[in-house]
Amino acid sequence: MRLFLTALVLLGLCLNVTVASKKLAFHNKCKQTVTAGLLGNGVQYYNLQHDQSHTVVLSNTWAGRAWGRYKCYNNKQRSNATQCGAPGTPNPASLAEFAFGAYAGLDFYDLSMVDGYNLPIKISPIGAKQGSNKYDCGSPTCSNLPQCPSTLTVKGSDGKLLGCQSDCSKYGGDKFCCGAGVKNCGGPYAPMIKKKCPSAYSKWKISSIEQSWS
Ligand SMILES: *[C@@H]1O[C@H](CO)[C@@H](O)[C@H](O)[C@H]1NC(C)=O
Repeated sequence: MRLFLTALVLLGLCLNVTVASKKLAFHNKCKQTVTAGLLGNGVQYYNLQHDQSHTVVLSNTWAGRAWGRYKCYNNKQRSNATQCGAPGTPNPASLAEFAFGAYAGLDFYDLSMVDGYNLPIKISPIGAKQGSNKYDCGSPTCSNLPQCPSTLTVKGSDGKLLGCQSDCSKYGGDKFCCGAGVKNCGGPYAPMIKKKCPSAYSKWKISSIEQSWS
């Protein structure tokens, strides 16, 4: 069972430090209407039909996350946190994370599947060239989602797949969530993500000297 067929593309602006604000453009590449969610200071929603875009203007130092969901078009649906709330353990979504001007005037962004995923997702910088390092203004993409193991599926009341949890978010604990000093931590989830979506974060790792994403 493939999760969803087409891609939600999120387009971000990066490294344009001379302007007073940043723009973030959502672009829905799915056939169905997708509701983009943006969590900064509270959650904003934007309904986007197929191939429709919406641009938001944010401050130079804005930090937050963005995602897309089906079936979150109206207030009734949005009142159900499991279905439409800010992504978390019971309601995972593929996340695009941004921290503008976070260090040395540079903007940072990433895709995170650490808590799970729902839709295909991509971030593309506009007006910035890919650097020599693949992490400098690259376009992280997760367009070909893995098949969600049946133990990790999150289903709606209609029995249809809403998303896929990570084993850390589902089971918790140091073994699955890579607590300090735990060797060979993590279940099958992170390698499954890394294989299909190598440019996305798949797990959170805590060691005695550093905390890092991989
Ligand atoms: C909220 O959404 C979830 C997931 O679709 C569903 O299982 C649940 O029944 C909904 N709750 C209400 C009160 O509608």
